[in-house]
Amino acid sequence: MSLSRGSCTLRAAVSKLNSFGKIFEGLPSNSSLVSCRQISSQEVFERELEHGYETHRFQPLENGINRSSGVFVWDTEGRRYYDFVSSDSMVNHGHCHPRIFKAMVEQAAKLTYSSQPFYSDVTGEFEEHVTQLFKYDKWLPTVTEMAGVKAACKLAKNWGHAVKEIESSKLKIVLAEGSSWGPYRRPINSNVNPPITGNFELIPYDDLTAADEALADPSVCAFVAEPIQSEAGVLVPKDGYLKGVRELCTKHNVLWIADEVQTGLGRTGMRLAVDHEQVKPDLLILGRALSGGMYPISGILANDSIMSLELPHDDESWSRGVDPLGYRIALEALQVLEEEKLAENASKFGNILREELEKLLKQSIKSVRGKGLLNAVVLDDSIDATNVCCQLKDEGLLAKPIDDHTIRLAPPLVITEDQIYECIDIIKSVLLASDPEGGSLFVEACYESAFLATLKPQTPIL
Ligand SMILES: Cc1ncc(COP(=O)(O)O)c(C=O)c1O
Repeated sequence: MSLSRGSCTLRAAVSKLNSFGKIFEGLPSNSSLVSCRQISSQEVFERELEHGYETHRFQPLENGINRSSGVFVWDTEGRRYYDFVSSDSMVNHGHCHPRIFKAMVEQAAKLTYSSQPFYSDVTGEFEEHVTQLFKYDKWLPTVTEMAGVKAACKLAKNWGHAVKEIESSKLKIVLAEGSSWGPYRRPINSNVNPPITGNFELIPYDDLTAADEALADPSVCAFVAEPIQSEAGVLVPKDGYLKGVRELCTKHNVLWIADEVQTGLGRTGMRLAVDHEQVKPDLLILGRALSGGMYPISGILANDSIMSLELPHDDESWSRGVDPLGYRIALEALQVLEEEKLAENASKFGNILREELEKLLKQSIKSVRGKGLLNAVVLDDSIDATNVCCQLKDEGLLAKPIDDHTIRLAPPLVITEDQIYECIDIIKSVLLASDPEGGSLFVEACYESAFLATLKPQTPIL
């Protein structure tokens, strides 16, 4: 098998696009517009790192991806990998989902941007759909997910001043420690000095007593809490925490801002992670998978009591909000999520994944945690998560170390039963290889699973 794929990718892209209704008929199929030279993963990597073009990356693993489909990505050498990163929940629908791709291409050929102050036909259609699906009055588009949380805080402050009559200079927001977002993001993530300023108070995550105390302060207008803290290590709070947060926010007349950027849209086995406890936040931030893995789109859902108050117009967090291309994609992504029952898939295969990996709880693995297909394996302190991820990569599976000893396992939700078992086998074999008692445990585990016993040892798939 040849590893070289020297042909021009533009040709492939054009022919793929032409298969959707001849939209790009004008473009030559053997276009000489772009001359492509196939480069190696090493070159991809070196160009980014050694030449200093990149700004900052989190612990990159050395491979250069140049193609993707469904649960797979391929590197420039043509090696195929299961994608257990899913671009941090961006590709819940799988890479290049054909329905979303088609919607994107058709809309791009029709109307991409409309200008303020005009509406487009798609804007209203999306707003109606998203507000009805999640049962909120209004949608506010934001520039990025980060800006989404920031904008939600501003909306809450606006409300706190207008409705709760808190003096502007005293308005305060309570934030759970380990949150992905923060005005001083790194100090908040790692909980190190310098402490955050600007009327934010940090309290421990999953601690209702601390929340009760902090929210009782009359100058607090909002509490920001993720239903599961993905970036902090897939921290799943105790049962009843989300209900407790809802009750405390109501009791103290404080708005609950739920950041569902990573946990929302099927990832945890329900449409939203807050659905696990059937509670409704006051402000809900969505993004990532709303893009269908194609085109970034994010925003906030909330009711009129918050959204109808006059907003500052000059804020950098709100988006122009007139983006028919993004909205068409998001509409299709939401429909695919429901029609293909991706949340149910996440729930079913997430249970299987955790159940199988829990059989390995021994020396090398301290715990397995998560919900749906948002999971983490916590390794023994002596085992380096990045090394394990490198071994997984060699076996054809890409996963992300989220701290020195924790690996996140979050494949696209379109994964099938055969595929999840194949991945479990890869993960088990790599994890067991780093366990001193691994050999005998592996045999035991294989006997327990008739399916696994039939699988051949994994080699990278070319
Ligand atoms: C839960 C959550 N919210 C917000 C953000 C900010 O997203 P972005 O950096 O894509 O704007 C992140 C980023 O990882 C996140 O995980």
